[in-house]
Amino acid sequence: MSIMESGWKRVVILLFIFVIIYSFLPLIPFWFMEGAGPGDNNEANIEKLKDNKGAYFSFIVIGDMHCGLLFNDAAALKNVWNINREDRFRKTPIDFVLSIGDVTLNGKLSDYTAFKKIQKLIKFPLITAIGNHDERKLFEKFCGKKEFAFVDRNSYFIVLDNEGGNLSDEQFKWVEEQLKEGKKHTHTFVVMHKPPFDPYQQDWYNMDNSPWAYRFRKLCAEYGVNTVFTGHRHMFKDENFDGVNYVVTGGGGMLIELPKEEGGYLHYVRVMVNHDYVTFEVRKVSPPLWEYLTYYAWKEVVYWFHSLYGSGYLFGANTRIEPIRETRLNNKEYWSWE
Ligand SMILES: [Fe+2]
Repeated sequence: MSIMESGWKRVVILLFIFVIIYSFLPLIPFWFMEGAGPGDNNEANIEKLKDNKGAYFSFIVIGDMHCGLLFNDAAALKNVWNINREDRFRKTPIDFVLSIGDVTLNGKLSDYTAFKKIQKLIKFPLITAIGNHDERKLFEKFCGKKEFAFVDRNSYFIVLDNEGGNLSDEQFKWVEEQLKEGKKHTHTFVVMHKPPFDPYQQDWYNMDNSPWAYRFRKLCAEYGVNTVFTGHRHMFKDENFDGVNYVVTGGGGMLIELPKEEGGYLHYVRVMVNHDYVTFEVRKVSPPLWEYLTYYAWKEVVYWFHSLYGSGYLFGANTRIEPIRETRLNNKEYWSWE
């Protein structure tokens, strides 16, 4: 090899190392910054929407940031960097960011501290639902109320607490009252952590056969809900039941287990309301380079090898699906709708 060739090789390797280090840098100021105060919560941020006028606006939906783990914080930071640039064309006002819950890795105080830093970095008001990983008392302290409804311009938003995986009769009663209220507005949107269906069928999450899920979908249809936003499964998926849109957006930061091809990628959703129209776009966000090299590239490699001898969900399928399936199959209620 000539001296010239080895010189170029060295430059390319050095550049590559530089870019990897550069992709890690946003985490350093993040570790040392202060988070948003506990007053920056659901109650306060709903107040900020009161004077919004006009029926042409956007909001952002993000789920499952799971702050408190290095990988998740780095990915959430990249999502936030993109979210903050969403208004760069000055076309539509972005009123707020809606979080679908699982804002923390495991609901510890340190996880909430990381989440509140992410919240501080989001330049739009943040309103969040509770997820099954968010410790309930700390959620109240840092995020505010867990079940509520609010108005923004021509739309009515209903935020539900279904982190336990179900909705009680009492909640059904409350949600129906809210849906009636929603009828006074052009659009009704419902927000809750767990989807009332199975967004990925080869997966341990088994909700399609649950009575509450069926009842909930029928109720949303009856009251003409526009879209139900959920998360929980770390993926993107949209479905339609009885004319109601169901969006699963769980790519806010958590390490994603599912294959990219089937919706397993980091992302958030931007929704646009234009009078009686509602449209949305999925914003795929690539992970920081260091995270891609240490996890995301390997996830796809593992799936590729897995496809040679099997298919479907890779992690936890044997340990988690069996007990659920057994209970469901033995429970006649799940199989008798009529
Ligand atoms: Fe989650």
